[in-house]
Amino acid sequence: MRSYPATVSSLIHHCTFSVLRRTLSLRSPATVTTPMANGSTTATEDSLRRALADKQSTIDARGSAIRQLKSSGASKSEIDEAVKALNNLKLEKTSIENQLKASISGDSGTSRDAFRQAVVNTLERRLFYIPSFKIYRGVAGLYDYGPPGCAVKSNVLAFWRQHFVLEEDMLEVDCPCVTPEVVLKASGHVDKFTDLMVKDEKTGNCYRADHLLKDYCKDKLENDLAMSADKAAELKHVLAVLDDLSGEQLGAKIKEYGIVAPDTKNPLSDPYPFNLMFQTQIGPSGASTGYMRPETAQGIFVNFKDLYYYNGNKLPFAAAQIGQAFRNEISPRQGLLRVREFTLAEIEHFVDPDDKSHPKYSEVKDLKFLMFPRDEQMSGQSAKVLCLGEAVSKGIVNNQTLAYFIGRVYLFLTRLGIDEKRLRFRQHLPNEMAHYAADCWDAEIESSYGWIECVGIADRSAYDLRAHTDKSNVALVAQEKFAAPKEVEKLVITPSKKELGLAFKGSQKMVAEALEAMDEKEAMDMKAALETKGEVQFEVCTLEKTVAIKKNMVSISKEIKKEHQRTFTPSVIEPSFGIGRIIYCLYEHSFYMRPSKAGDEQLNVFRFPPLVAPIKCTVFPLVQNQQYEEVAKQISRSLTAAGISNKKDITGTSIGKRYARTDELGVPFAVTVDSTSSVTIRERDSKDQIRVNVDEVAAVIKDVSEGRCKWNDILQKYPAHTSASADE
Ligand code: ATP
Ligand code: GLY
Repeated sequence: MRSYPATVSSLIHHCTFSVLRRTLSLRSPATVTTPMANGSTTATEDSLRRALADKQSTIDARGSAIRQLKSSGASKSEIDEAVKALNNLKLEKTSIENQLKASISGDSGTSRDAFRQAVVNTLERRLFYIPSFKIYRGVAGLYDYGPPGCAVKSNVLAFWRQHFVLEEDMLEVDCPCVTPEVVLKASGHVDKFTDLMVKDEKTGNCYRADHLLKDYCKDKLENDLAMSADKAAELKHVLAVLDDLSGEQLGAKIKEYGIVAPDTKNPLSDPYPFNLMFQTQIGPSGASTGYMRPETAQGIFVNFKDLYYYNGNKLPFAAAQIGQAFRNEISPRQGLLRVREFTLAEIEHFVDPDDKSHPKYSEVKDLKFLMFPRDEQMSGQSAKVLCLGEAVSKGIVNNQTLAYFIGRVYLFLTRLGIDEKRLRFRQHLPNEMAHYAADCWDAEIESSYGWIECVGIADRSAYDLRAHTDKSNVALVAQEKFAAPKEVEKLVITPSKKELGLAFKGSQKMVAEALEAMDEKEAMDMKAALETKGEVQFEVCTLEKTVAIKKNMVSISKEIKKEHQRTFTPSVIEPSFGIGRIIYCLYEHSFYMRPSKAGDEQLNVFRFPPLVAPIKCTVFPLVQNQQYEEVAKQISRSLTAAGISNKKDITGTSIGKRYARTDELGVPFAVTVDSTSSVTIRERDSKDQIRVNVDEVAAVIKDVSEGRCKWNDILQKYPAHTSASADE
């Protein structure tokens, strides 16, 4: 989840605003943590490391004892006995090392790589995705989606629209990718949308500082078996708090661990910020700078006024946008997970900051799933199953609306086919979160690369609308009309132009603005001080100095006023979905291999739910025969008319091979025409088949692929068909 503050001067009139004193947080570094990067050190691993260290010191002691025996002229048999004992100790040490290796990788290190390779090979071979511009050797971080990939993506987006835009009655917009500088200046991206980079001091090659530190820690933990348990715990802690480290802290760790450029082993520069936006020119003159948008959210914020009006001037409401985002990532890696152009689906839910309850909260509050609150992360514990409602009532999740979206994201991802055991909601650590944010949670999905942030869900308070109000001078605010006028006590600060003019001449306006910007506490403190001392020292940020304010320069009072409405800047709760990351994790969670019937090869299967499957049904004539082909065409036409995506395969390939081919694309159902009156329908994962009349096929497939009934219900209803080839 990104966090980037706007230019401070544009937001702040007066120094005493607490926001000015905060450390500006950079965009958070990548949140790809390894399965063991949650800081928890398993008891077995700890004790094995200790046993290994003990064994090594015994070996060292025995080694020097043998050297002493030799130099003191001990007998051969005495020396042989000691060497034998030493060799036994070395064997014991090897055994502990092997146990430790198994405990670190859970035996899964190599199988994880092999699994990923099998998934990626299948995806590339079946054109789910293709490295872009491949015939010109490609460009790092750019990928094309081929036909099945496009179909999966369009199904995921259709479900996203259904689950969020339609079911939550959101206002969808579609804004340009090319964005003028002023917008991204106001939002803070021009100044702060950065990652920390280090350079190879000799070749100039660039690396992401946090990635190098993470790789170092992971590599040491996996391969340095002689490392002490304390050192291992330290490295695990670094991994757990990686997102929390400042540039200085990252640089210090890189130096402390002696990390060098991975390709050349040359020394590295200190980390420095690199802006990730692609810059461009709008129009031919070169006078107007633009950027390719790094997120879609700004398009929604700048349209807030019109959207609020469209919504009948009522809060809460949400706007949504699906579109391309562009980030010039320093080191794109991990295939589809970190790319330079990707599809984002973002929601900005605008809500009254004084009332963050949600009308549909009761629909999600009993959900239970893996959550990883910040206290658990900091203290080295693991994620645990929590009830969402309890997390809100205990104050772990800041408010109902944020929790409502966490719950809806959980339902969205699991309905797509993400394994709920490999999905967790991780709360941001204090420094990871932007200073203005009230609370942030990332939906992280575990893949062969570790835990990957796929959706960021943040309560960004009023930050974005305030930033654009300030820069554009258009008030992006909402009103609440009171049923009856309310009497409210108002703070009234009236600077005396005459006295300020006499005292400060040209700076009079800035002093007056700073006085007017005081909050209630500051103003009342000043009033009290002026009454007792007659003069106070007052810091004016825009002047960068402190001035003396006298009693006659300002009048401060509280007055009772009648108000008919209140005007405020709404808070925004933002779920932001990286569609490509979700799809890649879905590929991994859906992929499995099973032996062919002959047992001579492993066949690949994607167990996509029908909702996301690129094609819902294939239609095969059993043998090449005109009558069967006619029936196949007729079934295909009826499926198309029912809105079911389907594909005919009239090649003469064996039926078993055709099944295997379609399993590899994740097609859930296959219809085989083996007569002109009735045909068979095969389900991909169970390989069960039923026999159905030709004119019923489309209705059956439609019901089961749109979730109106389950395959098991259909199995009961229609006669089973047994076939040797279906088992391929
Ligand atoms: P990361 O820390 O991994 O760089 P981020 O914190 O910058 O991500 P956000 O700014 O919150 O990410 O973006 C919202 C979502 O966009 C992320 O949850 C992620 O799914 C997706 N995303 C961000 N950067 C990339 C990228 N380079 N390639 C693909 N998806 C991305
Ligand atoms: N349904 C025909 C077969 O599997 O052989």
